[in-house]
Amino acid sequence: MRKNIVAGNWKMNKSFEQAEDLVADLTEYFEENKPKGEVIVCPPNLYLEMASDYASESSVLNVSAQNVSEYDNGAYTGEISAEMLKGLDINHCIVGHSERRQYFNETDQQLANKVDKLLDFSIIPIFCIGESLEEREKNNHFNVVKAQLENGLFHLNSDEFSNVIIAYEPVWAIGTGVVATPEQAQEMHAYIRGLIAEKYGNNIANDTTILYGGSCNPKNAKILFANKDVDGGLIGGASLKAEDFIKIAESF
Ligand code: PGA
Repeated sequence: MRKNIVAGNWKMNKSFEQAEDLVADLTEYFEENKPKGEVIVCPPNLYLEMASDYASESSVLNVSAQNVSEYDNGAYTGEISAEMLKGLDINHCIVGHSERRQYFNETDQQLANKVDKLLDFSIIPIFCIGESLEEREKNNHFNVVKAQLENGLFHLNSDEFSNVIIAYEPVWAIGTGVVATPEQAQEMHAYIRGLIAEKYGNNIANDTTILYGGSCNPKNAKILFANKDVDGGLIGGASLKAEDFIKIAESF
């Protein structure tokens, strides 16, 4: 189902105490001031249980993992399975963030496997796609995004695909302070929705949530989210401060 969503990707940041303070602040604030959209926090794995406990008491807050293993279980030291996430009542998980693709060499095939594992446990993948600066400068950005979608998600049948959230995150905008213009975001989001329509039909395309990510902040969120095909944001740096994240969540 298409929704307005703001998701905060904390990446590898915060001590346990700081993380708990942030979750507590967000839970308390949103209980009093219900946002128009859905709110998701994506803390590091070690804090998922704590965050999930807060979320179970909150009518607003949802929790997402940042990554999952492509395997069911077994001898994969350091990995966390979809089943383990489900055991903590985690209902979302980021897949294919550009940092995973870039620094951990995650391939399209691995990402497709991860999506499958999550869906086996009814966990919603937040599937990230986006081009590098070089790819955009070579005018190859549409092809790159199309290939990422086709290779990572288009093996799903319609029912499975209906459970996926997409995040368009141009790599050149992530953590750089260089945000996509509203026109660039809308153009790519409309393109992505068009590809989904070609593959799965208009109804599913219109029902798909497509988030924008990359230097989204309290100042630019409103103008980005105002675009027809931008359903919210995946927020990195600005999700680490309650005040900033709240402002972004109130930008619909
Ligand atoms: P940023 O990160 O908001 O710090 O640019 C976004 C992301 O990586 O999801």
